[in-house]
Amino acid sequence: MTADASPQPTSPLLPRAARVFVAGHRGLVGSAVARRLAADGHEVVTRGREQLDLRDAARTEAFLCDVRPDAVVLAAARVGGIMANSTSPVQFLEDNLRIQLGVIAGAYAAGVPRLLFLGSSCIYPKLAEQPIREEALLTGPLEPTNEAYAIAKIAGITQVQSYRRQYGAAYISAMPTNLYGPGDNFDLATSHVLPALIRRFHEARESGAPRVVLWGTGTPRREFLHVDDVAAACALLLERYDGDAPVNIGCGEDLPISELASLVREVTDYRGEIAWDTGKPDGTPRKLLDVSRLTGLGFKPAVPLRDGIAATYAWWRSRPTP
Ligand SMILES: NC(=O)c1ccc[n+]([C@@H]2O[C@H](COP(=O)([O-])OP(=O)(O)OC[C@H]3O[C@@H](n4cnc5c(N)ncnc54)[C@H](OP(=O)(O)O)[C@@H]3O)[C@@H](O)[C@H]2O)c1
Repeated sequence: MTADASPQPTSPLLPRAARVFVAGHRGLVGSAVARRLAADGHEVVTRGREQLDLRDAARTEAFLCDVRPDAVVLAAARVGGIMANSTSPVQFLEDNLRIQLGVIAGAYAAGVPRLLFLGSSCIYPKLAEQPIREEALLTGPLEPTNEAYAIAKIAGITQVQSYRRQYGAAYISAMPTNLYGPGDNFDLATSHVLPALIRRFHEARESGAPRVVLWGTGTPRREFLHVDDVAAACALLLERYDGDAPVNIGCGEDLPISELASLVREVTDYRGEIAWDTGKPDGTPRKLLDVSRLTGLGFKPAVPLRDGIAATYAWWRSRPTP
């Protein structure tokens, strides 16, 4: 095993037409990963939560022993925004720890040779140097509002590393930046910034509102990656990466929220004004991942932000109304 990534064309880490269990296949990330792996010719195995609650370790292990996949992608997690994270830290900690324990330990017990665990950029210290390198992990205090979630995810990284160190398992971890795309959550109470902006500008246009008021100053910078790009990165990592360290997944570029808001306004064809409620908090000034480890493997994002926003808007507008 090497700590550094290197393409392995002669001994692929993922066989052709591999059987891959994608845990969390109905989620934003899992659905994109499942689409991508199927398009690459792999056999994607899925189970809905109602068939298999991944917090149940015994049933998860039995399922994995039965199916015997060549690889597992762990994209199932209890995920939520600031409000949910700060009001239910017990569930964010315990559900994620239990899912990870069941899936990672179950995969090893079932003899699954390959596993990709997905974490998130919130595992890094609140004041990490920008752009954030993977080495920043565990070098400082976390953002308190999602500490329980982040600590569960850090435990998952350590679990993956421990299987590699103790048993030589080719298990790896990846940490995506802010993601968006078809399948995103547009519920304003729990959504992330991009779908929330799309919905607010769309509704403002529909209602003829003269302005949309957004929180903060618009100056914080954030990075966004389309889910098809994260899925491509996951496929690449499964094929080529066999290292101990987690790998950041991002596009390597950020933009101010004000610019993002202008892009969304254009895409949604909203002609009103954008106003900033500067009394509201801005959050951290910048959050950008260093993606040199991933680009060193040959990754290049393919979806320009404007196109991705337009596709996400089109998907949301065409969804069946509940
Ligand atoms: N979205 C982002 O911007 C982002 C950014 C960075 C990292 N990530 C990471 O990517 C991973 C997936 O996130 P996501 O945005 O795709 O989340 P998501 O859309 O909420 O999907 C999570 C999936 O996990 C499943 N799940 C949750 N608890 C389960 C359980 N007990 N048993 C079985 N299935 C369960 C859900 O099933 P149901 O469909 O039945 O609810 C859902 O399919 C997470 O680890 C997250 O940290 C996401």
